[in-house]
Amino acid sequence: MHHGEFRDPRVVALYDLAFPWSRDDDFFVAELAAEPARDVLDLGCGTGRLAIALAARGYAVTGVDPAGPSLALARRKPGAEAVTWIEGSTEVLPPDAFDAALMTSHVAQFFVTDRDFATALADLHRALRPGARLIFDARNPDARGWEQWDTAANRRTLRLPDGGTCVMWSEVTSVVDGAVSGTQHYEFSDGDRRTATLTLRFRTEAELRAALAEAGLPVETIYGGWNREPIGHPDGEFLVVARRR
Ligand SMILES: C[S@@+](CC[C@H](N)C(=O)[O-])C[C@H]1O[C@@H](n2cnc3c(N)ncnc32)[C@H](O)[C@@H]1O
Repeated sequence: MHHGEFRDPRVVALYDLAFPWSRDDDFFVAELAAEPARDVLDLGCGTGRLAIALAARGYAVTGVDPAGPSLALARRKPGAEAVTWIEGSTEVLPPDAFDAALMTSHVAQFFVTDRDFATALADLHRALRPGARLIFDARNPDARGWEQWDTAANRRTLRLPDGGTCVMWSEVTSVVDGAVSGTQHYEFSDGDRRTATLTLRFRTEAELRAALAEAGLPVETIYGGWNREPIGHPDGEFLVVARRR
């Protein structure tokens, strides 16, 4: 599935304004550093915020994303030359190549069907070396986070570098079998309006554990919050560390 928000250059340019470095990134940096690793995959690297920061820390980083305009923005950033960028998804991953793989900002939820997720995990299993880790975040469906998405509190006004503004908000259009679909709205101060549709899959802890075990990537730990709290923390996350057998 193509997600417009990562492919429309005017909307892509908003991403880093809307989602700057945060405690999420601190978590992934710390978790990665918990064990020695050299070759690191950032799958769904988007505009490259974390991939470039990890390369600056000395990792050999490969950033993979199917959205060309997001990768184009990533490639223009300072430090981008230290990262290997590949346009595509898990089908492009080289075998036996990585000591760790990350999927951050809920990339795992973009694999909506069970079949897509199983295929992605099988590809990741092939790309990881034995003993390598897969570290990712996924929202806990019990927190029902989507119920907050189209509230007034979630309407944001971004100040743009050109002096203009963009108001962005989300509308949930359906919730079916753990798949939450919605429309992102962008209203620029010059009158331009854009929309992008999106479907994200919310998997239960049991579903995540089963899919990972099936792929030969059994779960080692799942935290529930960004400071490594147990599952059920109000952060509403599953922060998963799995390891290739
Ligand atoms: C919310 S963004 C996260 C970007 C980045 N990881 C970050 O932390 O800012 C989700 C990213 O997942 C990418 N994506 C969507 N479907 C994907 C797929 N099938 N394989 C890999 N990446 C995918 C999108 O293009 C987008 O860049």
